[in-house]
Amino acid sequence: MLTPEELRTRADALGWFHPVDLGQGVVANGLSKGPFLGEAEMPDLAGKSVLDIGAWDGYYSFQAERLGASRIVALDHYVWGVDMAARQVYWNECAEKGVLPDHNRDMTDFWRPELPGRRAFEFAKEALDSKVEPMLADFSTVDPASVGHFDVVLYLGVLYHMKEPLQCLERLRAVTDEVAVIETQAVHIDGLEDQSLMQFFAGGQFIGDYGNWFVPTMDGLRQLALAGGFSRVVPVVEPPANAGTPKPSALRRALGRVPATGPTSHPALTYYRAVVHAFV
Ligand SMILES: C[S@@+](CC[C@H](N)C(=O)[O-])C[C@H]1O[C@@H](n2cnc3c(N)ncnc32)[C@H](O)[C@@H]1O
Repeated sequence: MLTPEELRTRADALGWFHPVDLGQGVVANGLSKGPFLGEAEMPDLAGKSVLDIGAWDGYYSFQAERLGASRIVALDHYVWGVDMAARQVYWNECAEKGVLPDHNRDMTDFWRPELPGRRAFEFAKEALDSKVEPMLADFSTVDPASVGHFDVVLYLGVLYHMKEPLQCLERLRAVTDEVAVIETQAVHIDGLEDQSLMQFFAGGQFIGDYGNWFVPTMDGLRQLALAGGFSRVVPVVEPPANAGTPKPSALRRALGRVPATGPTSHPALTYYRAVVHAFV
């Protein structure tokens, strides 16, 4: 067993997105500063099977294990295999030229089958002696039957990265037996609170990420989930009264120089991270 000092040293040599609690008082130095979902935003996970789609370094998978889930599968694809540094060089070149990147290169030029982006998850799993099971799969194309069925499915921070959001929610429904927790970037539009809308970004305009496409209003998110086959959608995190446009964050600075010229600064628009529970 590693000492806390050894744990710290080895954790610091890896790249983390989340502040994963590695035990012994050591918390990974994650790039994201949150806010993160806690027990209050989750359904009761005790004794439940849980699928964590877009698990990255496993923050929510290990949280589900701490909250008593009986079986947890951590599914991811993109950040596990894409060489983010090489992709960033290419993205910067695209920004310089004022063109949009070819996303197909993620799966050809930038794909690393040895999955360097999964090392932090693997390290945390070992440090925590965790039973969380990794599953390498692109959830937008994988056969849902091969993924299986889970009582609770976490779909956190993934929807706005999807080019086909309705199809993805149909897929989400196909693997959910009880409830899906959906967390996404969302937009609140003054005067249009009850409208079902989706804002589209052609790339690079939303929080400086070429891979952010659709941002729904709360009602747009609700209707997407209903159209996807869920029967009831309960808002858990709604627009904060005093939220503003996205601020340049450590993440955005880390993503580098990309065009950020979209309509993200209109006074009627307030961006926030919505959370809903979608019941089957
Ligand atoms: C913004 S991060 C969110 C990470 C974490 N779920 C959270 O909420 O903090 C998006 C995650 O979704 C994953 N992802 C994106 N597209 C995916 C796909 N098609 N299938 C599986 N995972 C995907 C990325 O690799 C990344 O881990």
